[in-house]
Amino acid sequence: MKIDILTLFPNMFDGVFSESIIKRAIQNNKVEINLHDFRDFTDDPHNKVDDTPYGGGAGMVLMAQPIYDCVESLKSDDSFIILMTPDGVSYKQSMAYDLSKKKHIIIICGHYEGFDERIRNLCDLEVSIGDYVLTGGEIPSMAIVDSVVRLLPGVINEQSHMEDSFNNSLLDYPTYTKPRVFRGMEVPDVLLSGDHKKIDEYRYREAFNKTKSRRPDLLEK
Ligand code: ADE
Repeated sequence: MKIDILTLFPNMFDGVFSESIIKRAIQNNKVEINLHDFRDFTDDPHNKVDDTPYGGGAGMVLMAQPIYDCVESLKSDDSFIILMTPDGVSYKQSMAYDLSKKKHIIIICGHYEGFDERIRNLCDLEVSIGDYVLTGGEIPSMAIVDSVVRLLPGVINEQSHMEDSFNNSLLDYPTYTKPRVFRGMEVPDVLLSGDHKKIDEYRYREAFNKTKSRRPDLLEK
């Protein structure tokens, strides 16, 4: 898979893509990630990428031209183009699975107070990572990349995907490791019983009860 990210702040991504699982996935050629500063694509003599909104109002608006030119320089028939915006559709694990099957993803990070509405016409999907507003699409795009790359074949153990929260519409069950008693808190006996049927039942019950109390909306589906 190839991922191209359009941003005015490519340095923000340094730490996230140079550690842990994403770093290993890049090193092992499971994914190629390229960062593009779309300021390099402006045809404005002063390198401007934003301007005041028509009709008035606060703040500056990202211009369409640099983003169109940058996307068009990268796009092919296999490309799937995503815009990060708080008014996009809510991101879900099921979308991470769908995206992990794409050959090429282009992610546009919005910034400042907004972007020219015509940028939306370039995109296959507009995505929000939650009902809150961040200063730009950089952190949301990191969340998308992280959730997709971990699902690529050979990046992490596939058994881990099956046990993820949100699979089967349930949150994850509780897990424990050594020691058996920590500061008076004990590992449930059933996990030490060796009875796998009972362990499965316990895990399902715990996942169900947690989902019912924290995220009843998931069970309604
Ligand atoms: N840009 C700013 N806030 C965002 C959000 N919540 N999701 C996606 N992009 C954003």
